[in-house]
Amino acid sequence: MAAPETPMERNLALELVRVTEQAAMAAARWMGRGDKIAADKAATDAMRFALASVDMEGIVVIGEGEKDEAPMLYNGERIGNGNPPSVDIGVDPLEGTTLTSLGRPNALSVIALTERGQMQCPKEIVYMNKIAVGPEAAGSIDITASPTQNLRWIAKAKRAEIPDLTVVILERDRHADLIREVRESGARVKLITDGDVSAAISTAMPETGVDVLMGVGGAPEAVISAAALKCMGGEIQCQLWPRNDKERQACVDAGLDLSEVWDIPRLVGNGDTFFAATGVTDGEMLQGVHYFGGGATTESLVMRSYSGTVRWIRARHNFDQLNKLAAESHRPSYEGVPYSAGRARVR
Ligand code: FBP
Repeated sequence: MAAPETPMERNLALELVRVTEQAAMAAARWMGRGDKIAADKAATDAMRFALASVDMEGIVVIGEGEKDEAPMLYNGERIGNGNPPSVDIGVDPLEGTTLTSLGRPNALSVIALTERGQMQCPKEIVYMNKIAVGPEAAGSIDITASPTQNLRWIAKAKRAEIPDLTVVILERDRHADLIREVRESGARVKLITDGDVSAAISTAMPETGVDVLMGVGGAPEAVISAAALKCMGGEIQCQLWPRNDKERQACVDAGLDLSEVWDIPRLVGNGDTFFAATGVTDGEMLQGVHYFGGGATTESLVMRSYSGTVRWIRARHNFDQLNKLAAESHRPSYEGVPYSAGRARVR
């Protein structure tokens, strides 16, 4: 894929973080309330509302939601206020719907953005097999080789031994063989119930103690993870993982090669890439939304591949002031509901 010639003038990630903050604050109202659909819908509605005011002509390439028939921003939906630049957008208003509904760690609200035509998500399948590492081990992985061989290469790149490595894997029946092999290699295994975007990003953050993500997870999550790891200098490789003959045939019909390795350029192109994520529930990487009387605090990660800058943004949101401003300008605040009434909206 050809690289666009010039980077974009604005760091759009700094504008997108306001969108993920909004979605995270809406979703976090549902933390631990046992209703993942309501949490996802709250995040999606808030995200759509906030995206409308961003100066861009965006097309949703990843709207997520198909897997769970969840409320979503639709693929092909046009968002932003219609002004340049023209961009592709991948959203996951709530990455970790079950994590949120059960009050578990590491749920995020996420957006990835590339220049138009650069973001590619296979529509024919739900899952991809993935391996992701941070900058130290970038260039040392090959998804077509065995997990053990990859661990050897990663250990070497990190000047470590395999038993020093921590491998994150989604706890799923489909991973029984993978987990067995990784354990036999001597590496440490961290099983997570959900949230492989957060796990993929963790590989690029030494303080999390995570070295590599392996295993099969959502295809949209693979693309979003690729955007983040591109900004951080990490690497992710994926392969299509059809669940059944119908999906396998759909890939063949679409001319997709099941043995193809989808790397970062294949997933998010060679151009400028932007990423923003806000914590919904507390996690190793980001603090979740914490409410107080009249407001909330959020913590976000904001990145751009062109500069390679990674920012952590902690924000204190004053709902009373935001409602006052909305009332003065005769505009509804988020979703036409005052911020402070978020609690009242809960049945
Ligand atoms: P949701 O936010 O849609 O609940 O997805 C969470 C997640 O754990 C992803 O992080 C992961 O890629 C995918 O689901 C795994 O899918 P499955 O739960 O079907 O194994």
